[in-house]
Order: sequence, then C-alpha cells, then structure tokens
Amino acid sequence: SALVVAVDGPSGSGKSSVSREVARRLGLAYLDTGAMYRAATWWCLHTGVALDDRAAVAQAVRDLPLDQGVNPDAPHVVVDGTPVDDAIRETRISAAVSAVATNLDVRDELRRRQRAAITEQADASSFSHGRGIVAEGRDITTVVAPDADVRVLLTASEEARLARRARDVHGSDDAASVDATRDQVLRRDADDSTVVQFHVAADGVVTVDSSDLDFEQTVAAVLAVVEQ
Ligand code: CDP
Repeated sequence: SALVVAVDGPSGSGKSSVSREVARRLGLAYLDTGAMYRAATWWCLHTGVALDDRAAVAQAVRDLPLDQGVNPDAPHVVVDGTPVDDAIRETRISAAVSAVATNLDVRDELRRRQRAAITEQADASSFSHGRGIVAEGRDITTVVAPDADVRVLLTASEEARLARRARDVHGSDDAASVDATRDQVLRRDADDSTVVQFHVAADGVVTVDSSDLDFEQTVAAVLAVVEQ
C-alpha cells in the first residue's frame, strides 16, 4: 500500500535535499511545499501585488497558475508557463516569502493544494511516480498530513544550520558568509514561527538531529525511521 512520509524542519536543517533523496531511494514522489510558498511570492511580485495587501495577496494565490512536478529526479516549478526553479531561490524571494506565508488565507489555499497532491500520490490507483510521497515543509507533520505513516522533524543546531546555508548561498562557511546569512535565516524562522511551530516535535513525531551528521548519514537516519 502507499506510504506517506512527512518531514518538517527549520532553514538549513537539510530537509529539502534529504527528503528528496529519501523519496528517490524509496521510489516515492516528492513534494517541496516551501517551493509553493516561494512560487506564490514570485507570482505576487511578478504581477505587482503589494505584499502588505492581505486580501489581494490571498486572491492572487487562489488564482496561482502553478505546475509543480513531484518526480524527485526531475523537480520542476512552473508558474503561468514560466519555469521559476532558479528564480524562487533568489534572495529577493527568500526575503519576502514569510510575508506571504504568514497570510492565513494563503496558508489555507496552499494547504488545500498540498493535501490534494498527497492524496493523489497516496491513492495507489492514480500514482504518477512511486507508490506514495515524501512531503516536506514547516507544518506537514502537524497540519497538512498529521495522519502520515511516518513523521519526522529534522533539526540541527543554529550553528550547523547557518554554516550549511552559508555554504549553499555563498559557497563558503567563513565568518563573513555566516554573518551574511544569519539575519535572513533567523529572521525568517522567527517570522514563520508566528504561524507554524516547527522547532519542537509534536506528539508522535520523531526528531532527527543532523547537527553532527553529514548528508548520507542524515538520509540513513530518516530511512531508519521509515523502516521502524
Ligand atoms: O529555505 P528553507 O529551506 O528555509 O525554506 P523553504 O522550505 O524553501 O520554505 C520557504 C518559506 O516558505 C519558509 O520560510 C516559510 O515562510 C514558508 N513555508 C511555510 O510557511 N510552510 C511550509 N510548509 C513550507 C514553507
């Protein structure tokens, strides 16, 4: 039968790369819900919607023409025909995404789409990739898929998370690169925490601390939880 794996965690915990690899190893579909909030933010900026106009942002997101692939070997995010895989990772999007993600009407709409994508993949008769899905984000274990078969909170120390993000964004984890990352990552996690709780595992959610694990070891630790 189908397997639903939910993974949450803060910035720099490694949840996207680890979840994608876990999906690949298990032959499952992969849903990056952060990419949906980023795509929504890109769309608002692209169409000139003021991010502080809550009603306008909510309406823009209800109309968001998003096409997101769930194959972990070939992820793609397309908005209104434009591939935005790289654009949604730009600093201007990272800086603005929490303003969109803290809009509760936006969350309702994107959570609805996330549940539909998970249900579609979990339904063995309509699976388009593997028999099941790994979905990751900030509120998957708690709100989007609290009934998932496997629920993991991927954590890491602040130091480890900042070093990872500095290497991703600046190609180095020297002091200057870590400093350049600190404000943005910590401010974004603090803003996100006003609407979703992802620093402490909810009941029944298994914590995997990746502070002292490399990528392979973290993937192995999550696979071990799946096999429990
Ligand atoms: O870059 P990072 O891995 O920290 O984040 P991401 O997974 O790409 O998510 C980007 C942003 O989307 C987060 O900072 C949140 O504002 C929002 N998000 C959310 O609110 N709920 C989710 N389930 C996933 C992401």
